[in-house]
Amino acid sequence: MRMKLTHLILFGISSLTAIATPTKQCIELEIPISIIANNSIYSMPTVDNTFEAVQWTLNVTTWSRNLNSSINLGPKLINSTFSINAQLCIPQHKTPKSNILQIAISGRGFDKRYWDPEINPAKYSYIDAAIKKGYSILSYDMLGSGKSSKPNAYEVVQLPTQVEILAELTKLIKSGYLLTSSKLLSPLTIPTVFKPSKIVHVGHSYGSAVTFNFLIQHGNLSDAAILTGLLFNSKAGSVNVAYFDHEFARQHDPIRFNQYNSGYIVLTFQSDLQKLFFRYPGGFEPEMLTYLEKIKQPEAVGLYASESMLRVGQHANDFKGPVQFMVGEFDFVNCMGDCKGGVYDEGLTMRSFPVAKNVTHYLQPGTGHALSLARNATGGYEVMLGFLGDNGL
Ligand SMILES: *[C@@H]1O[C@H](CO)[C@@H](O)[C@H](O)[C@H]1NC(C)=O
Ligand SMILES: *[C@@H]1O[C@H](CO)[C@@H](O)[C@H](O)[C@H]1NC(C)=O
Ligand SMILES: *[C@@H]1O[C@H](CO)[C@@H](O)[C@H](O)[C@H]1NC(C)=O
Ligand SMILES: *[C@@H]1O[C@H](CO)[C@@H](O)[C@H](O)[C@H]1NC(C)=O
Ligand SMILES: *[C@@H]1O[C@H](CO)[C@@H](O)[C@H](O)[C@H]1NC(C)=O
Ligand SMILES: *[C@@H]1O[C@H](CO)[C@@H](O)[C@H](O)[C@H]1NC(C)=O
Ligand SMILES: *[C@@H]1O[C@H](CO)[C@@H](O)[C@H](O)[C@H]1NC(C)=O
Repeated sequence: MRMKLTHLILFGISSLTAIATPTKQCIELEIPISIIANNSIYSMPTVDNTFEAVQWTLNVTTWSRNLNSSINLGPKLINSTFSINAQLCIPQHKTPKSNILQIAISGRGFDKRYWDPEINPAKYSYIDAAIKKGYSILSYDMLGSGKSSKPNAYEVVQLPTQVEILAELTKLIKSGYLLTSSKLLSPLTIPTVFKPSKIVHVGHSYGSAVTFNFLIQHGNLSDAAILTGLLFNSKAGSVNVAYFDHEFARQHDPIRFNQYNSGYIVLTFQSDLQKLFFRYPGGFEPEMLTYLEKIKQPEAVGLYASESMLRVGQHANDFKGPVQFMVGEFDFVNCMGDCKGGVYDEGLTMRSFPVAKNVTHYLQPGTGHALSLARNATGGYEVMLGFLGDNGL
């Protein structure tokens, strides 16, 4: 629902009290982001068809290969500008929290629709849940997915690139020049000067890994963070890419994925999506699987190769805000199906954030890896947004 600015001025004050639930105004942006990132060149087979996708999977999961530091063949400096597709939503009317912007980044294999499924948004959309509490929120497609640039899948689309994109995007937003620097892909419904006073970073899965590194390297750019689908625990790493079937994206669907070149793979079956995301019987509505199959995105192999750049054990010395780790109790990829039973590594989590205001974790009951697509997504959002509220945001 969109309203003109004049409309807002005319009716803004009187309707403010009458509207219990703020509705949103959204705009789609194409944001040019220039970054410098320290990537690496990794030894791995190229993937130009599905046969090679399987060979790649076997290669990179071979245990002895992963002990061998020679898989990193040397540094690769990335100095480029990419186009990042984003959606910015703000509450229809000014709220006490509309100056707080959340930046949401999804995991590997999905674009920003992860936060905003078209099925029953009142129940599943994190965007709508945040707006309802009065926050502004920007979600974007990670480099190499959705409507963002799809550069070289081996050397360019890696963890360090994604971290620098998040940092530059955050700086651009803080400067107030986001809208004037971007190409507007839908009509402008909001003031051109959008300069939030506080920024909250929200990730899911690989997006949380990106956010974690960002907090380590650029912690003073963030006022708070919620890392969903990520938990430091003793089972982490048990479930690798070979647990799921992948095909070469362009072979899997030559029409839908025709923009994806060498090195972009995609989950093959609906059953892979079920395994990855839902695990717990009854925790999801079956129609969600059909929907996910429709919106799934290719993944660059460089995202996997660069996982070793995750800065586990390093300290976010410049991050002073609160941070919440939010994970489904039955998360398969993170905890091999069960995040309880003492697997959580509280010591490591606490040490990572030596000056944070509040470091906490929450296990969302009855839920697998995909918190926003689970039957009880709304219950989880109450916990996440409640955490921000409790911590003065
Ligand atoms: C990249 O590495 C160089 C040399 O080690 C360092 O000076 C620079 O800060 C690094 N840049 C980033 C974005 O990590
Ligand atoms: C993996 O692929 C690389 C590059 O093609 C090759 O050098 C290496 O021998 C392979 N290793 C395994 C374990 O298949
Ligand atoms: C590790 O890499 C070196 C250099 O490529 C190679 O000689 C050695 O066989 C590798 N070791 C294993 C266990 O793959
Ligand atoms: C990045 O590229 C720009 C323009 O192409 C150049 O001026 C700059 O020196 C480069 N930076 C690095 C660190 O290579
Ligand atoms: C954040 O830290 C960097 C150096 O790590 C510094 O250059 C920058 O000015 C700081 N920004 C703020 C807002 O404090
Ligand atoms: C839904 O999530 C909330 C928040 O974690 C929890 O309190 C509630 O018990 C959950 N409901 C069900 C049916 O699991
Ligand atoms: C941290 O946040 C949690 C969840 O909102 C809250 O229960 C707890 O009291 C907070 N702890 C501190 C030290 O503020």
